[in-house]
Amino acid sequence: MTAFRTLYSAAPEGTWAAPGRVNLIGEHTDYNDGLVLPVALPHTTRLQARRREDGLLRLHSTRGGEGITTLDLDGLTPGGTKGWAAYPAAAVWALRNAGHVVAGADLLIDSDVPEGAGLSSSAALECAVVTAYNDLYHLGLDGVRLARLAQHAENAYVGVPCGIMDQTASMSCREGHALLLDTRDLTTRQVPLDLRGAGLRLLVIDTRVKHDLADGAYAKLRAGCERAAELLGLPALRDLTAAALPGALQRLPEELRPLVRHVVTEDDRVRHATALLDAGEPAGLGPVLTAGHASLRDDYRVSCPETDLAAATAEDAGALGARMTGGGFGGSVIALVRADRADPVTAAVTAAFAAAGHAPPRVFAATPADGARRIA
Ligand code: GLA
Repeated sequence: MTAFRTLYSAAPEGTWAAPGRVNLIGEHTDYNDGLVLPVALPHTTRLQARRREDGLLRLHSTRGGEGITTLDLDGLTPGGTKGWAAYPAAAVWALRNAGHVVAGADLLIDSDVPEGAGLSSSAALECAVVTAYNDLYHLGLDGVRLARLAQHAENAYVGVPCGIMDQTASMSCREGHALLLDTRDLTTRQVPLDLRGAGLRLLVIDTRVKHDLADGAYAKLRAGCERAAELLGLPALRDLTAAALPGALQRLPEELRPLVRHVVTEDDRVRHATALLDAGEPAGLGPVLTAGHASLRDDYRVSCPETDLAAATAEDAGALGARMTGGGFGGSVIALVRADRADPVTAAVTAAFAAAGHAPPRVFAATPADGARRIA
């Protein structure tokens, strides 16, 4: 990491880290007041920081090329910052917008969370910044509040109408656990997930197809769900039960039906997955993942040829189950495999991508890790 002292001629006051995430199950439910079950990745965005007395935010990212980007906090306007600097700018803007009295800072950012891979690199950066500010400026905010601020940063400043899953996962996940989050009331429960103990591996297959949630497709899906809830006279699709689903679908225009079917069945898959983990049967997640992928592919229609190929090939090569994770339109697939199938599944997916003429995927095994924290 470029030395902080070389950049800013002073020592940092501390170092913070916030992870990326994969979602086990519960996709496109978080803006429907539903349930999600993410785990944090060992990959983190790390931030060295030092307060400033003036209103300048100075930034350097080891991924962002040479030099220091300087922003004036008083001049920040939603949508007004381009590129990676928009995320730290958004995070500090959100804190100030919520009435927290904070001044500038010098930040040095480093990250190994893959970008554009559906692994929440932007949430990791936002969460690292709000966590550092919370400590540096003694704000006393808890993880739920910080996650909401980071989400507000993304919604109102960056302009992506995302739900609360990614930021909550990055803030609140714990090593060795999946995080059950109820996005209606933001209650969470740490659900033990000892993959290694069960002889399992969770492979993450980054298809390297860049997804860009800001391109409007995500917003359109979200609007479709909200419209469906409104037509059904419900506060959110969360309030539609599986038993009432067939009747409700009849009352909706055809184009909204598959969206609603996905959301309602997906909430049930989260409940089912959680029950399996509670019962100490993580291998049972396989079919739940596979059903989730089919629903995202056929009903929600956010998969793409590369994610479909990765999921299908992983299963053919012996995975217990596989599905795309995150918003979709590219990004990553997760595959649950027995430990001795990790290499053959990786090899099969890599070969299938080569045969189809796709760029080689990046495959790694993920162990559920800790959420945002101070590390020095
Ligand atoms: C993106 C969003 C999340 C969530 C997922 C889909 O990751 O940022 O809020 O909606 O897509 O589950």
